[in-house]
Amino acid sequence: MQQKILILGTGGTIAGMAEDAEHPGKYRAAQLSIAALAAVIPGIEKAAGGSLDAQQLAQIDSKDMDDAVWLALLHACDKALHDDAVAGIVITHGTDTLEETAWFLHSCLGRLPKPVVLTCAMRPANALMPDGPQNLKDAVLAAASRTAAGAPLLTEVVAVTGGGELHSARWLQKAHPHRLMAFSSGEQGPIGWVGSDGVRLRDGQVPGGVTAAAQASLAVPSLPAPEAWPWVEIITSHAGARAAAVDALLAQGVQGLVVATTGDGTVHEALQPALARARSQGVPVWRSSRCSEGVISGGRLPVHADLGADLAVALNPYKARVSLQLALLGALR
Ligand code: SIN
Repeated sequence: MQQKILILGTGGTIAGMAEDAEHPGKYRAAQLSIAALAAVIPGIEKAAGGSLDAQQLAQIDSKDMDDAVWLALLHACDKALHDDAVAGIVITHGTDTLEETAWFLHSCLGRLPKPVVLTCAMRPANALMPDGPQNLKDAVLAAASRTAAGAPLLTEVVAVTGGGELHSARWLQKAHPHRLMAFSSGEQGPIGWVGSDGVRLRDGQVPGGVTAAAQASLAVPSLPAPEAWPWVEIITSHAGARAAAVDALLAQGVQGLVVATTGDGTVHEALQPALARARSQGVPVWRSSRCSEGVISGGRLPVHADLGADLAVALNPYKARVSLQLALLGALR
């Protein structure tokens, strides 16, 4: 059977249009369909090594990303992962919350029998030199790439960003508000690169590797309708922090808190009694550093049993929030 790459469009700057192409900084995200974007990229079918199927799953600026779109993405990926005709999945997304969606999908899907590759752009589609077409073509090439033995090269959720960089969902974050190379994995660096001759993985990255047994046991957690997802907020520890911010959230029924801590996991003394009150009311409180690189000493990836713990999480606060939401849903792997 000829392989097919499925592209799921969700909007973002990659689908954006500027009123005036000479001033691409003033634009509206999520204007063009994914079918229209893919149709004008020379050689994209060749990069796919077969055919392409484009589906519009949402059409939003990713600052407005929500649980409903995440659930739709998860269902679409699950369906495609079980469809023998689909060799890989590409998701176009805005840059602003891409790291959160990547981490959500990675947390729910785990190791994969076929690649799920997110991509994006910093310039709108009608800029004089748009970055979206190259990023999308690179993402398709990455999703279609195989090992010498014919197995999919990438077996976890990854993102292709500017300059053909390939980043893991775990470390990727948007690091700059308008630079073309806006993403970074900090001290971990990219896991590889995509060029016209294919994917080059960083030394030490193991290509492929999901066994037939793992493929057969692929089970995506079944999540309830978005209205039933728990409310988890991020509270930042900063100079002049006030306990009233935590108490106001508790009074409104918040169900989980992630503290974006100073430095190595420290929390302003003014917040500590309120956070203790949260814990005593059964509201889990996890800590994650607000530093843009590195993780808190003793920090680790959360598991369901950490719900009651004063956990130091080895993720940035935005991804820690996703993990706490999934833990409360009983869906953390
Ligand atoms: C968005 O996140 O949808 C808008 C910004 C971007 O894609 O760069």
